[in-house]
Amino acid sequence: MNDRLEAFATGFRKQAEFCHLLGSPFSAALLEQAADAFEAGDDIVARYMPWWDGSTVAEVTSDVLMLRFLGCAHALALSGDVPALARHYPSCGGDGVADGVWGHALEAFAAHEAFTTDYVTQPPQTNEVARSGSLVPGLLELARLVTMPVATFELGASAGLLQGLDRFHYTFGTATWGDEASACRMEPEWALPATPPVEAPLTIAARRACDAAPIDILNPDNALKVRSYIWTDMPERLARLDAAIAIAQDVKPVVENASADVWLEKVLGGSAVPGQARCVLHSVMWQYMPKDVQDRATAAIVKAGEAATPDTPVAWLRLEPETNNKPMHVALALWRGDGTCDTRILADSHPHGTQIGWLGWDNGRVCDSPALVQNFS
Ligand SMILES: C[S@@+](CC[C@H](N)C(=O)[O-])C[C@H]1O[C@@H](n2cnc3c(N)ncnc32)[C@H](O)[C@@H]1O
Repeated sequence: MNDRLEAFATGFRKQAEFCHLLGSPFSAALLEQAADAFEAGDDIVARYMPWWDGSTVAEVTSDVLMLRFLGCAHALALSGDVPALARHYPSCGGDGVADGVWGHALEAFAAHEAFTTDYVTQPPQTNEVARSGSLVPGLLELARLVTMPVATFELGASAGLLQGLDRFHYTFGTATWGDEASACRMEPEWALPATPPVEAPLTIAARRACDAAPIDILNPDNALKVRSYIWTDMPERLARLDAAIAIAQDVKPVVENASADVWLEKVLGGSAVPGQARCVLHSVMWQYMPKDVQDRATAAIVKAGEAATPDTPVAWLRLEPETNNKPMHVALALWRGDGTCDTRILADSHPHGTQIGWLGWDNGRVCDSPALVQNFS
């Protein structure tokens, strides 16, 4: 086996471990079978991503090749065109038996070559609705601290499902917030006794969003693509997604097609409205940007922060990993217009927002720099 195939096998096996840990044994089994196929000499990356010239585990991981092929197999199962897959995929009413299913996926990739090539060329777009359960507590803290409406600027918004986050319902330990009647409900496991300030006057005054490859969720064909990135044996995630897609038909999210760095320079430049806080927010997208793009995005946020006034505060709220294999953090940086920036980690969070260890602002871990998000390694 050459180094490249070995890197694929290792990357896919690592992702299989994550899938196990995150509650998707079916996905884990498929990725293990895919790793076996690499070890047997089958280079599907060369076949469907001939332009991809990486060769190390770090490159496989940072370009998330595993999620591209796993998502593609799920999309083919959901399409209705591949009964050999659908009969095993739980999300298609299948039996959940993963034995030998990757072999069917390989056959389906070959039979639907144009679809497969197109699908795996796009970076993964897991728009995970439950991440709103990690971001909303941060917005509540911000509203408590600034006591004014908040204009949000979401980066890497994908299909824009989190644009409807104030239309969902949340249970945070003993506290609740949001639309009591909403069909989209977040009930994360709440590890610590403190709760977010659900009485804070949170009003979203304006909302804008960007993504480098936005998905128009108002186009029904795109719902299948968004579903395909959710692991097939996680029915609660799929149910939340479906509820959020239904709400999005009403919210009509607008996700501008732009890279976060360029977009931030444009939108933060002239958008300060007296009596409104501006909050840049994002979840699980920072690692997908190269370092120079991260640096440029950081510089745009810091520049807006340093120009904040007491009447136009600026905040940066994010749910991102700081290092691989660790819980993600919810972090909030706040420029109140007094020449300082205060950055705190408010919570540890499961990557899908399903478990939260809430510290809050007053007990949050104080950070030296607003730009504490680091690369996956
Ligand atoms: C894993 S998805 C997360 C989507 C969403 N934030 C969520 O948490 O559900 C990562 C998103 O980042 C987007 N992305 C990657 N690079 C980007 C960039 N330079 N600027 C804006 N978005 C980017 C991708 O297109 C993708 O939609």
